[in-house]
Amino acid sequence: MDKTERVLVTGGAGFIGTHTVVELLKQGFKVSIIDNLDNAVEEAVHRVRLLVGPQLSQNLEFHLGDIRNIEDLEKLFSQTKFGAVIHFAGLKAVGESVAHPMRYFDNNLAGSINLYKIMAKYNCKKLVFSSSATVYGQPDKIPCLEDSELKAMNPYGRTKLFLEEIARDIQKADPEWRIILLRYFNPIGAHESGTLGEDPKGIPNNLMPYITQVAVGRLPELNVYGHDYPTHDGSAIRDYIHVMDLADGHVVALEKLLERKDTGCVAYNLGTGRGTSVLEMVAAFEKASNKKIPIKLCPRRPGDATAVYASIDKAGKELGWKAKYGIDEMCRDQWKWASQNPYGYQSKP
Ligand code: NAD
Ligand code: WQD
Repeated sequence: MDKTERVLVTGGAGFIGTHTVVELLKQGFKVSIIDNLDNAVEEAVHRVRLLVGPQLSQNLEFHLGDIRNIEDLEKLFSQTKFGAVIHFAGLKAVGESVAHPMRYFDNNLAGSINLYKIMAKYNCKKLVFSSSATVYGQPDKIPCLEDSELKAMNPYGRTKLFLEEIARDIQKADPEWRIILLRYFNPIGAHESGTLGEDPKGIPNNLMPYITQVAVGRLPELNVYGHDYPTHDGSAIRDYIHVMDLADGHVVALEKLLERKDTGCVAYNLGTGRGTSVLEMVAAFEKASNKKIPIKLCPRRPGDATAVYASIDKAGKELGWKAKYGIDEMCRDQWKWASQNPYGYQSKP
């Protein structure tokens, strides 16, 4: 594949997808998005176009479609030759996956299987897949290494684990496939312009969107889940990563797939390798926003690990990728996005 062949980005209207599409376009790739807008709005794609400008925008196509619907995929692949697929499309809310496991198995597993069938049919066998640190479960040892034990704690995690296994099996059976599995740790932040960012529907489950909504006055206070963990301040530790570093990681992974013939199916952690506690994150966000975030100390959230952070050596050595941004920049860009768009892509209801 050269850059004149198109890259298909499933779920490209979503949080990580939009930021990645901006970087792909800037690097000269032609991009088609398929998204069913289950957790996104078309306005996000419009913002991508505004950011890259009219000329690069001509290299972007948006298709409203569902990867569970084989006709939607067939229509796309029969009309366009894709050199590679970056596969973000999926549902990602852990709690919802416990309440509605079939929704997760159907969307994430059946949707991906459909996609891989069509890719094989049209001989498009280069894939970058959105995996997650969730595949390490509650890790026994930190930092998490790519060859650490894999285990899932909930139906969402199981979909990622199964999809990693499926990718390994497909590639083993047909070595023409070249697959990179990217295990993201905790993606936060926003595009530095403040025009793209995360826009969760309903009350956020994740820490950073919750803090953000407290800061803009949409929620009264942050519940801090757990203050008796065996950490320096009693709150849990995670490896937060700037979404623009993730976007860069996808471009690098794609280029690796394009240049090498013997990629196989390889997993890489995308994290910073540094842990930040919940209370440290609150303090960093208060500093970036100059807003007080009221907190309430609450019991631990069931299923949460004490500390999770990545070993980043493999991505550094083999992809030449390393995160550039730290917590202060993540909070700065998150606040820029939130202060300019307190209701996300919608205007105030
Ligand atoms: P997101 O919800 O913002 O983006 C996912 C996109 O996929 C959405 O735009 C949604 O409308 C679309 N989509 C869902 N099901 C679809 C379907 N059947 N057909 C077409 N489009 C569909 O989420 P995100 O944070 O950008 O995550 C992207 C990927 O990264 C997901 O696979 C997620 O599991 C994975 N991931 C996310 C995180 C995180 O914390 N954000 C961490 C690790 C891994
Ligand atoms: C981080 C810390 C919470 C909200 C999840 C998924 C994982 C991956 C990333 C997709 C924890 C605490 C949170 C709040 C809090 N996603 N917290 N108050 O659980 O590390 O990972 O997102 O693949 O699979 O499980 O992220 O942001 O939910 O929580 O105190 O209102 O913040 O208890 O310690 P998590 P998170």
